[in-house]
Amino acid sequence: MTTLAVIGLGLIGASSCAAIKMRMPGWTIHGFSRTETTRQRALARGLVDQCFESVELTVFGADLILIAVPMGQFSSVFNAVWLAREEYSVVTDVGSTKGAVVDDLIAVTKAIPSWFVPGHPIAGSEQSGVNAANPDLFVDHQVILTPLAETATSALELVTDFWEKQGASVSIMNVARHDEVLALTSHLPHILAFSLVHALSDDDEHLDIFRYAAGGFRDFTRIAASDSEMWRDISLSNRDAILRGIDRYTGRLGEMREAIALGDRDWIMRSFERARNARRLFSSLSGKGDHPVTNFCPSVFQVTHATSGLHGNIRVPGDKSISHRSIMLGALADGVTTVEGFLEGEDAIATVQAFREMGVLIDGPDAGKVTVHGVGRDGLKPPKAALYMGNSGTSMRLLSGILAGQSFDSELIGDSSLSRRPMRRIAEPLKCLGASITTSENGTPPIYISGGQVLSGCHTDLAVASAQVKSALLLAGLYAQGETSIKEPAPTRDHTERMLVGFGCKVERDGSICKILGGGKLTGCHIDVPSDISSAAFFIVAATLIPDSDLTLHHVGVNPTRTGILEILKLMGANIEIENEHEVGGEPVADLRVRYAPLKGIAIPENLVPLAIDEFPVLFVAASCAEGETLITGAQELRVKESDRIQSMVDGLTVLGVRIIGTPDGAIVSGGGPEFRFSSGAVEACEDHRIAMAFSVAGLLACGPVRISDCVNVATSFPNFVELAREVGFPLTVSE
Ligand code: S3P
Repeated sequence: MTTLAVIGLGLIGASSCAAIKMRMPGWTIHGFSRTETTRQRALARGLVDQCFESVELTVFGADLILIAVPMGQFSSVFNAVWLAREEYSVVTDVGSTKGAVVDDLIAVTKAIPSWFVPGHPIAGSEQSGVNAANPDLFVDHQVILTPLAETATSALELVTDFWEKQGASVSIMNVARHDEVLALTSHLPHILAFSLVHALSDDDEHLDIFRYAAGGFRDFTRIAASDSEMWRDISLSNRDAILRGIDRYTGRLGEMREAIALGDRDWIMRSFERARNARRLFSSLSGKGDHPVTNFCPSVFQVTHATSGLHGNIRVPGDKSISHRSIMLGALADGVTTVEGFLEGEDAIATVQAFREMGVLIDGPDAGKVTVHGVGRDGLKPPKAALYMGNSGTSMRLLSGILAGQSFDSELIGDSSLSRRPMRRIAEPLKCLGASITTSENGTPPIYISGGQVLSGCHTDLAVASAQVKSALLLAGLYAQGETSIKEPAPTRDHTERMLVGFGCKVERDGSICKILGGGKLTGCHIDVPSDISSAAFFIVAATLIPDSDLTLHHVGVNPTRTGILEILKLMGANIEIENEHEVGGEPVADLRVRYAPLKGIAIPENLVPLAIDEFPVLFVAASCAEGETLITGAQELRVKESDRIQSMVDGLTVLGVRIIGTPDGAIVSGGGPEFRFSSGAVEACEDHRIAMAFSVAGLLACGPVRISDCVNVATSFPNFVELAREVGFPLTVSE
């Protein structure tokens, strides 16, 4: 038998009573409200067993006390609870700001007690009061608990269990982080909605305006109907974080005002596109719950000279290529596929979202875990609209292969960078299999695919060494009659082949040719995604260049079709030890220990280029600090990545004082040797994640600050780059 005391019978308190009454009929519930009508209503609806006019009487005999009053009433409630609670009572709350709640408590108790667990259910509605009580309000919603060092484990367990019984999922955060995140994701939107409606209601003709207001007004301002006392108190209790949020927002709004005044079409487009992309990411991260989104990257990085070596043991996020493929093959498999180590970056999320839009149930990602409920090879459903691939070339090209074999039509679109990238390289060979696929006139997205075609296996000699093209053909080959074979001009990453085998499909390799027989069936499995060597590369080069560094990168994928970066750096003189080599789910992984070493310039062997294709931006930085000349040839593919990576690096490195000449297929870099210092300066990341991170490494060896703009796309492949870089010793600051 548990006795629950609920102080405050508004929407949240009364809904908690309703949820417990429905799910835990044996519990006794005491309720407190300041108003007589609320008390009567709560009793009449059977939400509580007894109702009281005083907090002291309510908490008598309670095992658990839930405080659900507006923020402004916490002090007086804490005073009463402190005097009257039983020695064994655990106390929790639902306040929207945790710092202020903890301060109010300490003002009463003088020290943080072990029996208090600060909490915040991320659920609610614009409705308020006991009449809006809803027993399912917390189902599939998050409750954030912010325990303190002094909080007893038993108290935390009790409160966790209390919320889980109501159908919520509990996550733990610290108080400051909670307040910072909620200021942006909850408090600021409410303040904006209240302010907009207030501003419009100043107008004499506001009734007319409201009468003709369309869905946009309704959607944006729904929360302006929320309880005003509650929101007044929240606004004041999280003052500093909210003020920072308002400044951030008004800054952007001011820029937008100026762009509209100047008719700056490009700026407006980029801002809207960034927001649209971020909103889509939010939808896919949040599923149906209200999870706070935390993995955006700020747009400006500033890095200054590293005054000491880089140190630490870190694990960079999951491999992007393998993460995409785990969703694609998981979706086409029969049965369930579980994934761990999944990259929660925008690119891989674009793939998740696309399959959701084709009817695949995908749980997560949540802390790198994803569960894909496969629909079978022929189980995809027609998407309702064009599939948006964001910045992700891998999503667009591999999906084209899959969509070529479907019975329905589809359209693939992307952001401004992806909309400039060449797609004929996949459209042409897919047509040879019988696909009906078109691109824009100049071979770029959107891609239109007509379904219902009969595909027949054939042989393709690839014109470019591209794993994306090879993979698109292998995936289309699953749907083709007979054998599909592909000859590569040079080896490229073979994750698709390895993973198809892991899903029970036969893929044959005969020298530079790989083959697949149509009609194969995939069976769901478990995938452990190793860390991405392409993300590790920034740290490998940084630790190599900064004296006294000693950095270990754990669980890095070292598939031989990806380790060109290690071979090239070793040829230049780097000190990289490969330790603890083993295999996970068909992919080799290892820990990489990197220590400082002076580098010398080399002519990079052309056969290593496709095996290090994504690592060239940071290799340009390494070459700038090597003794003598580094010659890069055979790397023309760099010109058609997320940006023209040869041009982006030549432009930025020239600003930073490097002697570099771009060539059609590479560059000649005159390295300054280990004593070289980059000039201070401002460079552009050109909407390209890897360019942004490469210039961050250059900043570590600059004689003054290096400012890098346009970095938001770092979130496509490495959402926690800033945190990890700081952890190992990058002096990196960010701004919007
Ligand atoms: C990728 C292949 C490479 C690489 C990209 C990811 C993949 O592209 O640059 O970041 O996952 O197959 P190309 O196939 O165009 O070389």
